[in-house]
Amino acid sequence: MKMKEGFLWGGATAANQFEGGWKEGGKGPSTSDMMTGGTHTTPRRITPVIEEGTYYPSHEAIDFYHHYKEDIKMFGEMGFKTFRMSINWTRIFPNGDELEPNEEGLKFYDNVFDELLKQGIEPLVTISHYETPYGLTKKYNGWASREVIDCYVRYCDTIFRRYKDKVKYWLTFNEINILTMPMGAFMGGGILLNGDDNSELSNGIKDNPSVRFQALHHQFIASAKVVKLAHKINPNFKVGCMIAYMTLYPFTCNPDDILLAQEKDQLQNMLCGDVQVRGYYPGFAKKFFKENGINIKMEDGDDKILKEGCVDFYSFSYYMSNCVSADPVKQEEAKGNLMGGIKNPYLKASDWGWQIDPKGLNWTLNHIYDRYQIPVMVVENGLGAVDVVEEDGSINDDYRIEYLKDHIIEMEKAVENGVDLMGYTMWGCIDLVSASTGEMKKRYGFIYVDKDNDGNGDLGRKPKKSFYWYKKVIETNGEEL
Ligand code: BG6
Repeated sequence: MKMKEGFLWGGATAANQFEGGWKEGGKGPSTSDMMTGGTHTTPRRITPVIEEGTYYPSHEAIDFYHHYKEDIKMFGEMGFKTFRMSINWTRIFPNGDELEPNEEGLKFYDNVFDELLKQGIEPLVTISHYETPYGLTKKYNGWASREVIDCYVRYCDTIFRRYKDKVKYWLTFNEINILTMPMGAFMGGGILLNGDDNSELSNGIKDNPSVRFQALHHQFIASAKVVKLAHKINPNFKVGCMIAYMTLYPFTCNPDDILLAQEKDQLQNMLCGDVQVRGYYPGFAKKFFKENGINIKMEDGDDKILKEGCVDFYSFSYYMSNCVSADPVKQEEAKGNLMGGIKNPYLKASDWGWQIDPKGLNWTLNHIYDRYQIPVMVVENGLGAVDVVEEDGSINDDYRIEYLKDHIIEMEKAVENGVDLMGYTMWGCIDLVSASTGEMKKRYGFIYVDKDNDGNGDLGRKPKKSFYWYKKVIETNGEEL
């Protein structure tokens, strides 16, 4: 089927995973810049200072900083209607708490947006995508402190005014619900839960849910404040939330499994959407806080701020699904985006063990739209795989085409069912650094980039087979898959 007129087909990226130039143009370090490379089996480490001789993939990444013209031209060739990217907060405020922005950083994004607009591509900007200024981590322990809200609002005020006539679509926080999970403290909140022992990702986490949920509350307040601000600065702005949707099925029809799946879905997936779309904490969250001794400090007026800062649309990432079981007998496990779960015997998995479930996207779109009844957008979906460059230089990524095709088919079914879908941006439209493992080998792109896990390669770009396939999809507005 054809999607509606103006459907936003495109691709998605994040500054820390593809921009590089980590010290150029006055940029300061972000949390991502303190994370080393890793692999499938060796987790990334967080280092409190940059270690000589250690590899940090975000520092050069794929060097979009110097290649943006060439890259955007290729996005234009594919016919992108939109391009999701993040602004690197530390290009604008290098430490996060300055009062005046860094002009060189602002200029860089002017150039990028101008280039996109020249190609007829609408920018879709994530304001914070795992890029909290490391200066704020050092000074305030990141989002654990309420002071960071003001820094974020100042940053948003600056970029909203500067790009008022260039950008219409904004997302306040990437995968804000990562803070509901122990592994999300540093990536999502710039929080060092263990003080100077910065090895949360590699050596197991000494979790502190109170700190995490307090930080999440600060992000909710920050998000609500800037939604209001955005509308004041430009009433045409559309601001969305962004949730990592980790679709969960009950492993069996045992009512205990059904209830457990519901409980986990509420806490991991629904809590954040509920606050950001409806403007208040749902009952199940209050119950969870009470039962777990989590005491969130709220200030007078917070309720009003949340209520007045509801988002215009709901966006989410979708890669896979997992199962949950209430049975104490251990089942075989599967990996996944942010969270693993129980293996589903009906599904195949990617090279990285994420279970491929196109029908789950259909289910998820319906589930979300039934609940919120506001426009929805899929802003991340894609397949991380090992690509092979053939002797003739071609890259025949049929597996990626198949993955995307199957997901788009299901997405279209959800639209036929009445879901108001604004657009679809495939994750990692150009090969970039993996957020979870820091690898380059885990490739998502329509465009291949010559660079390996250790940073070797000439950064040359070339289209894969999927590049031409996606071009056709966009040309026919989703009809020819
Ligand atoms: C999402 C993030 O969790 O999934 C992206 O928003 C990330 O930043 C993407 O890259 C894919 O995950 P990974 O770990 O394969 O890079």
